[in-house]
Amino acid sequence: MLCFFKVHLTLWKMSLVSKCLAKNEFYQELLVQTNALIQNETDHIANMANISALLFDALEQVNWVGFYRVIEEQLVLGPFQGKVACIRIPLGTGVCGTAAKTKITQRISDVHQFDGHIACDATTNAEIVIPVQLNGDIIAVLDLDSTSYGRFDAEDQYGLEAIINAFEENLALSMSKA
Ligand code: SME
Repeated sequence: MLCFFKVHLTLWKMSLVSKCLAKNEFYQELLVQTNALIQNETDHIANMANISALLFDALEQVNWVGFYRVIEEQLVLGPFQGKVACIRIPLGTGVCGTAAKTKITQRISDVHQFDGHIACDATTNAEIVIPVQLNGDIIAVLDLDSTSYGRFDAEDQYGLEAIINAFEENLALSMSKA
């Protein structure tokens, strides 16, 4: 069970509602909130910033959540929540660069066993990185770190990939309107 605190914001009042949910229901709630945040916004940097903030706030036992954007064959630090981080990562290097190069989610229970892991924060022990694609091209990755070994399971991966799918749909729609 995960407890989820949701802020209801209207023009006149704000209220905090707490719910305890199974993990799959928790991610369904996060997906609803993600769509509500991004549906009317076409600026993808702003959307990355809000997705990072939403996930960092809602998920337990994460010490870093953020995006790296693909710029000229490198990953460049994008919107994030957490401590200062490595700025540039070559494609194919580290967990992030591997996710970007292979276009496959990297779910790592123990980063110390991952050959080439880049330790931006020495306290990180587990990591998950989800590729972000537009028309089949890799444009960014979403990276989440935790100090807890094995923090991210298959349900976390499925839930986070669904959130990134929603973001990819928003990106594709925004580009088609531009
Ligand atoms: N650990 C990552 C680097 C990014 S930081 O975790 C924010 C990697 O190996 O690619």
